Amino acid sequence: MIFVTGGAGYIGSHTCVELLNAGHQVTVFDNFSNSQPEALRRIERITGKQLQVIEGDIRNPAELKTALQTSGAQAVIHFAGLKAVGESEQQPLRYYENNVQGTLTLLQAMQSCAVKTIVFSSSATVYGIPQFLPYTEAHPLSATNTYGQTKLTVERMLQDLYRSDATWRIGILRYFNPVGAHASGLIGEDPQGLPNNLMPFVAQVAVGRREFLNVWGNDYDTPDGTGVRDYIHVVDLALGHLAALNRLQAQPQCMTVNLGTGIGYSVLDMVRAFEQACGKPIAFQFSPRRAGDIASYCADPKLAAEHTWRWQSQNPQGYSISH
Ligand code: NAD
Ligand code: UD1
Repeated sequence: MIFVTGGAGYIGSHTCVELLNAGHQVTVFDNFSNSQPEALRRIERITGKQLQVIEGDIRNPAELKTALQTSGAQAVIHFAGLKAVGESEQQPLRYYENNVQGTLTLLQAMQSCAVKTIVFSSSATVYGIPQFLPYTEAHPLSATNTYGQTKLTVERMLQDLYRSDATWRIGILRYFNPVGAHASGLIGEDPQGLPNNLMPFVAQVAVGRREFLNVWGNDYDTPDGTGVRDYIHVVDLALGHLAALNRLQAQPQCMTVNLGTGIGYSVLDMVRAFEQACGKPIAFQFSPRRAGDIASYCADPKLAAEHTWRWQSQNPQGYSISH
């Protein structure tokens, strides 16, 4: 049984689909603060399998402990948290409470239930301002905003925990820019209010919910002047979690791995690709640079490749289950 915090959210819902498809049983623990229970019904429709659902908050120790015990969890994938950079600057305490205190409470509950396997959603944001590119896992770490600081703090907490007890199995996954949606069209990203991130904004322009996209800056030192990022498809990202679980099953460890493609695309590349996919023009205008943005960055995905993640993620159970 895999216990998925934040399983109704964007990345969590796609990961639940892949877990169920691979034959795992799944319990979702979510407070639906940034998601809808409908996503869970859609996961069941896609997979034809049932999920166990527990509505609860990771900041609540009693709820968590009961949920972990009754579900019979063997491992946790921990997506629950808040993720808007701008909001984290306005409401730092709310971010520390959800992301740091929430994770601390989760780890304490896990320890008391002797569940010692966790995969944690970290972010490329922990690399801060690039000192070299592509970012390897060994790149120095720093935070340029409160959201990033909460991820960095949780990473350190996990490493300290492992140092104190080397029977833990901990996977820290540093996501680059997750994009896309499940091929069924039944689940996807559903941001509340004005999307902060590029792809949901582009998608809303395409369906007519927004008039045009603001391209934040066209004077960067990049091939077309717009920002370059490493966009990874959300289903590939989801499969990365299964590969991480398999690797942790093999032996206790605390591993940190980039999940990106190693290829950078500009804002205009992404707009053109979306136009091709939906067959409609995407209106945009160039606007001044967004505060805090970096011109260009991408992952060094070698470590994940060396771990033969491609093989493992496409064949999570080896040859025993065919897709
Ligand atoms: P999301 O907001 O779609 O999903 C998060 C889920 O957690 C939601 O269902 C929300 O209701 C739930 N949640 C939040 N606080 C909770 C709490 N206190 N108790 C219980 N449930 C709670 O976000 P996502 O894009 O799926 O991101 C998942 C994780 O990955 C987050 O930790 C995020 O910081 C991290 N991450 C996301 C991105 C990205 O671009 N989407 C990039 C890097 C890292
Ligand atoms: C942002 C966060 C980062 C987080 C990541 C994934 C900031 C500063 N960084 O990264 O911490 O880990 O999301 O959630 O918020 N763009 C436009 N117009 C838009 C939106 C974006 O031109 O309306 C451009 C940006 O300037 C950037 C690129 O598109 O060049 C990607 O932006 P975005 O999707 O917000 O992700 P990041 O800024 O890379």
